Amino acid sequence: MTTIKKLRELEIILNKSTGKKVLGMVPTMGSLHEGHISLVNRAVKMCDEVWVSIFVNPAQFNDINDYKKYPVDLKKDIDNIKSINQNINIFIPNVNDIYGAKIVKDKFDFQKVDKVLEGIKRPGHFNGVGTIVKKLFEIFKPNLVFFGEKDFQQTIIVQKIIDNYFKNIKMIVCPTVRSEDGLALSSRNSLLSKDAKKNISAIYDSLLFAKQNFNKFSDNDLKSIIKNKIEKNTGYILDYFELRCSKTLRFCNRKNIKKCCCRAFICVIVDGVRLIDNLVMTNEN
Ligand code: PAF
Repeated sequence: MTTIKKLRELEIILNKSTGKKVLGMVPTMGSLHEGHISLVNRAVKMCDEVWVSIFVNPAQFNDINDYKKYPVDLKKDIDNIKSINQNINIFIPNVNDIYGAKIVKDKFDFQKVDKVLEGIKRPGHFNGVGTIVKKLFEIFKPNLVFFGEKDFQQTIIVQKIIDNYFKNIKMIVCPTVRSEDGLALSSRNSLLSKDAKKNISAIYDSLLFAKQNFNKFSDNDLKSIIKNKIEKNTGYILDYFELRCSKTLRFCNRKNIKKCCCRAFICVIVDGVRLIDNLVMTNEN
């Protein structure tokens, strides 16, 4: 995680650099919400030039129906971005601009972090994310890139792309933005019916419960308590609840918690919509 102190240091280093512009990039799939806006605001603060890309990337969807029903509202997105700052640049390519005639997904070696959590549930998803992120970074050659903590596994994947191909890019991970009921903001939330949203606080409440009771229960016990908390709500299915190390995404090593930085990852399917969230359980060092 990027601490405020680290950010300040970075800002100073960047500002002192030889008059070179700092180019920031916020990759998105559109349907922007306050979570995205917080990334753009951060980028505006830290960079001289900001690019927001809006591209629903077909290569990262393993389910064609999920791709087809992904919410799109370009006009609203553009208005939202421009209302932050008229000078923000917006990149809206089409599939052909990015992939040409055939969508080909690169294959990356993510050292197994793509083989857990979302990686199991959505085969090929992270190769698709890696492919588009690499293409965008090649096009824009940004200095800073901005991603949300909500998609924590994705930030680890993007960091691997950066480490392997773009040593000069620095990723800034911004905190999850939540609605009043604790729901982590996501473009997919707009697919939820009013009824489905009634008990939606159960997701964040479960993460908070896990944090408060982390030392009291084993991983398995926590998981079964949380399964009950979630599934007592009609239409809610717990897809996974796992306690994993923030750095390696291996299962938490409770005996060496200082080294492990345990984080809870949850995915709940509510009326067919996959909602993911995560929360740090022990202090990160
Ligand atoms: O998090 C997202 O919205 C997407 O996965 C990303 C990073 C824009 C790549 O398509």
